[in-house]
Amino acid sequence: MPAARLCYVSPVGFVGGAELSLLDLLTHLDRDRFHPEVVCLGEGPLVDHLTALGVPSRVWPMGQAVARLSLRGKRSGLGRLLPAIPGTLGQVARLAAYLRKAGVRLAHTNGMKAHVIGGLAARLARVPVVWHVRDFLGQGRLEDLVFWLGARVPVRIITNSQAVARTWWERGVSPSRVVAVHNGVDVERYEGRDGDAFRVSLGIPAGVPLVGLIGMLAPWKGQMEFVEAARLVFRSAPQTRFVIVGEEPYLTDGHGGFAESLQRRVMELGLGHAVFLPGYRRDVPEVLAALDVVVHASTAPEPFGRVLVEAMAARRPLIAADCGAVREVVGDGDAAVLVPPGAIASLAEAMLALLKDPERRAALAEAGWARVRQQFTLEAHVRQIEQVYEEILGVSREPGTHATAWVAESREPKGEA
Ligand code: UDP
Ligand code: GLC
Repeated sequence: MPAARLCYVSPVGFVGGAELSLLDLLTHLDRDRFHPEVVCLGEGPLVDHLTALGVPSRVWPMGQAVARLSLRGKRSGLGRLLPAIPGTLGQVARLAAYLRKAGVRLAHTNGMKAHVIGGLAARLARVPVVWHVRDFLGQGRLEDLVFWLGARVPVRIITNSQAVARTWWERGVSPSRVVAVHNGVDVERYEGRDGDAFRVSLGIPAGVPLVGLIGMLAPWKGQMEFVEAARLVFRSAPQTRFVIVGEEPYLTDGHGGFAESLQRRVMELGLGHAVFLPGYRRDVPEVLAALDVVVHASTAPEPFGRVLVEAMAARRPLIAADCGAVREVVGDGDAAVLVPPGAIASLAEAMLALLKDPERRAALAEAGWARVRQQFTLEAHVRQIEQVYEEILGVSREPGTHATAWVAESREPKGEA
């Protein structure tokens, strides 16, 4: 059987966690059976990563009106939504025409705007579509509309955790159509790395305790709470240094200016010499190797949290905010110290306790490392996603379900392909 043509739709062109997970999948996807290509609805470095992987891509940027819509930063209201409608419909028509012409067998969307645009386009083109949902949806009319579409448009919804899957079951989407597939990590990438160069770049000698938080700079990722906790730790352990790794990639409403506020707060607290913000790093395995304690501090439910598995793969002791899917990822306390999200004093206490206790640090690191190897390998992740494709593309194990009926319909000869 010839390789099935798959079209991934990314809502953005920058490279955040969702895009890194997509790249991981594409790196290991069985190219004998699947022929992937990617449509990016935004400009940015994602295309270069795809080219390096030999995955064809095209960039069809959404207009500014659509690109700035947000359900996460400052919620965009109806006033923002209305001007975005013509651009959205244009994108849907263009993508639908492409899917039809190119003979795409399956579309796979990788973010909220791609679910809507790619989902409707696939429906028009009579191509089955999988939504890969990596975020929690909040409350509101727009969210209601997305749940409504989710019950009708995709043949399957893949979520990055059970916690995210549950939100769809609760909104009436049949559990047989929602599959939770945890992200995986290429464990070898994190083995035996050297953190010296990163420490040198910050001017922090070996032996000086270093605590770090890695992630896109965004209020809900908890960097401000991390700074406040650092202040408390610093009072009783002034030799400690802290690093916040990441940049602010979001262009959407309510984002922007957060990096400056963080830097300003660090200065106000007189911690300019103790808290570092080196920006985005491509060498996260080396950064992790330089850290004595890794902190995850999200204040809103974390849908998955790649940095958690990366820290465990790098054998680092971890403190994690107990929210969203975090327990699914790190377990109930063996591999990470869990703290309530947003609780600055608890976070500071946990940091201090771990800095003082090398044995506990080692025990957490060992447990995390074993956990990743058992439950979060990239191979297992890719195998599960491929199984979803196999089911949809003709070897469905659920004859008679909506999904199968839909696929059968979409496979009828179309003439134009
Ligand atoms: N990351 C990176 N360099 C940075 C900051 C973050 O490569 O400077 C990566 C990090 O290693 C992780 C991803 O970005 O793989 C963030 O994914 P996560 O799921 O933790 O959070 P998201 O930002 O997707 O919500
Ligand atoms: C999203 C989520 C993050 C998850 C990532 C990859 O960016 O916010 O929690 O790890 O997708 O699935």
